[in-house]
Amino acid sequence: MMKLAIDLGSSVTKIFKIGSGVVLAEPSCVAVSTAHGGVKAIGEEAKRLIGKTAEFTTIVFPVFEADIVNGEMAAVMLSYFLEKIGVTRSRARRAEVLFSVPIGVQSGLIEKYRALAAACGIRTVHFVEVPFLSSLGQNMPLSETEPAFVVDMGGGNTNIAAFSLDGVIAGIGLNIGGGNIDSQIIDCVAEQFGLKIGLQTSEKLKMTVGSLYETDNESMIVNGRDIQSGRPRSVAVSSADVYGCLKLFADKVIEYTSMVIAKLPAEVSAVIWHNGISLSGGTARIIGMDDYFSHALQMDVNLADEPQMAVVLGGGRTIGDEEVLDAVRVEG
Ligand SMILES: Nc1ncnc2c1ncn2[C@@H]1O[C@H](COP(=O)(O)OP(=O)(O)OP(=O)(O)O)[C@@H](O)[C@H]1O
Ligand SMILES: [Mg+2]
Repeated sequence: MMKLAIDLGSSVTKIFKIGSGVVLAEPSCVAVSTAHGGVKAIGEEAKRLIGKTAEFTTIVFPVFEADIVNGEMAAVMLSYFLEKIGVTRSRARRAEVLFSVPIGVQSGLIEKYRALAAACGIRTVHFVEVPFLSSLGQNMPLSETEPAFVVDMGGGNTNIAAFSLDGVIAGIGLNIGGGNIDSQIIDCVAEQFGLKIGLQTSEKLKMTVGSLYETDNESMIVNGRDIQSGRPRSVAVSSADVYGCLKLFADKVIEYTSMVIAKLPAEVSAVIWHNGISLSGGTARIIGMDDYFSHALQMDVNLADEPQMAVVLGGGRTIGDEEVLDAVRVEG
């Protein structure tokens, strides 16, 4: 039987296939015609259209802040991704699929995932919360007695948790992620330079000049529209210009991480202080994020080897191991 792990992220959908590894990582978006509702492009191709289309095209993100907000488009998108990796509808029917879900997932979201799976022809599904998958994807030793602490920062969602194979000890899901930094950078550039830039540009700024080392000083030329005159203009934006946007996000996550740490029973807390915490998710790739956390929390912080793939890699490891799957799957 074919086994798949699917991480339907707010920003990027990742799929792991047992026997092959990570077989897909594409933006979770669909370009739709506003005139007749037809689908124009999906995934990578759709993302390239952001900010460049006429008013007759809208870009839909079916997963927002880790919730399936457009079930119909989610099904169109996932069916397309499955086809792309050679999983036809008849194959999907015989596949066993694991979906990653946010910490503390409610039955309403599980139902949406079941409906999505059914719409794609998938009959056998399992659900596992992000923190477990992230730690398994990083090959952290997970047992009933040894707790782990993970912070996964994605595009629209951040999961913070201390847990063992026995379950979550303390944790929280926040509906913020790298997308919030992108919007913040747009506002920041508008305020400082009087220039309106697009989402693609702000994300690129975050990835290239963005750094949580205050002394870093890279810069990048960006194109946008002058807010006053409406004419195209370009400016050089530096690391220092966007530092505040990154810091705002990191400080918020650190504040909640401290709260979760404060809730831990003394013995768990001792182990966590000793072993440190682990960061994953695409947003953990921001330069200096690990050192920034380490400095603020005064503890060891480990960045996953493949931050953005940790969850789906963990999904692959879990769907391939019945014992692990039984220990971590969400019941119901
Ligand atoms: N090198 C990088 N530097 C900074 N940010 C990055 C980098 N690479 C990816 N990102 C950001 O990571 C985010 C996507 O991460 P990820 O794929 O983990 O999210 P997701 O799983 O789709 O979303 P979520 O878990 O919130 O539902 C985006 O905001 C993206 O801009
Ligand atoms: Mg994610």
